[in-house]
Amino acid sequence: MKRKKISIIGAGNVGATCAHWAAAKELGDIVLFDVLEGVPQGKALDLMEAAPIEGFNCNITGTNQFEDTANSDIAVITAGIARKPGMSRDDLVTTNARIVGDVARQLACYSPNTFIICVTNPLDVMTYVAYKKSGFSANRVFGMSGVLDSARFRTFVALELGVSFEDITTLVLGGHGDDMLPMVRYTYAGGIPIEKLIPAGRIATLVERTRQGGAEIVNYLKTGSAYYAPGAAVIQMVEAVLKDKKRVLPVAAYLQGEYGARDIYLGVPAIIGGGGVEKVIEVDLTDAERQALDKSIQSIKKFISSF
Ligand code: NAI
Ligand code: 2OP
Repeated sequence: MKRKKISIIGAGNVGATCAHWAAAKELGDIVLFDVLEGVPQGKALDLMEAAPIEGFNCNITGTNQFEDTANSDIAVITAGIARKPGMSRDDLVTTNARIVGDVARQLACYSPNTFIICVTNPLDVMTYVAYKKSGFSANRVFGMSGVLDSARFRTFVALELGVSFEDITTLVLGGHGDDMLPMVRYTYAGGIPIEKLIPAGRIATLVERTRQGGAEIVNYLKTGSAYYAPGAAVIQMVEAVLKDKKRVLPVAAYLQGEYGARDIYLGVPAIIGGGGVEKVIEVDLTDAERQALDKSIQSIKKFISSF
């Protein structure tokens, strides 16, 4: 069977970590592209030299030539600048829109059949830019944020309860910003609603910590933002597509009326498989949840109106 080709655009912290998780899972051959000379080459070679130790069989190529990404099965866009302390995700919009737009155009040119997963922030807006500039159908362009934000909420709930991380399931809706919606009503520990296990005040603290999860890491690192959990989240989505797993994952998907929104990318649950975003799933919302989601939609719309 021919190996899949995974291109990762941007060989910084998130891009390199995506390559690491993808190689460890032996998902395919990996191309790491960056504009910095030597960085993708060095990281790719270093990672490939781990193959004899870890026992994975993938070719990992680092490059500054976009044509080396040609005929990718899936591409991940992490290119851009990352958030620094005191900087909001939205501050990044102008620079990153230029970079992501250019990358998306080149991907469409060299890999007309690829899927694109956008990671660059501000995520919902950049995914919209990638969609518009690639000219691809909406099912082939989507963004990573909900898997990460849900993983953060799952982590905090598991730590609170002193139970296994994998037994916590949840859903985070909305944009990848401070107004994201960790859905408490859809959060369970081994099938038991967490509202039966954790006092409401503590749950509110965990929800707020999730909303500030990106900033919490930035404040520790000082020179950049999170990459281990983001990389793992991306590769869970890549695996779902390449193995046609039909996972139900929260992703930034293009909405055409779902959740009362149109022509916008927003974090919603969707079936992710060989067709990319195969179906957006709508869940019932209370009035308060609907209002909070509308706020998130409005803050994304404010930015995408200029693209
Ligand atoms: P980084 O600064 O370590 O890496 C970014 C890389 O992009 C750099 O190596 C840079 O040279 C490269 N780059 C810049 N312009 C390029 C171009 N035109 N073509 C190819 N490469 C180019 O940043 P990091 O930590 O890897 O983060 C990357 C992006 O992902 C940031 O925008 C960050 O905010 C975002 N992010 C999003 C998350 C999410 O949940 N959606 C989670 C974590 C990070
Ligand atoms: C995060 O949530 C920076 O958006 C990135 O960690």
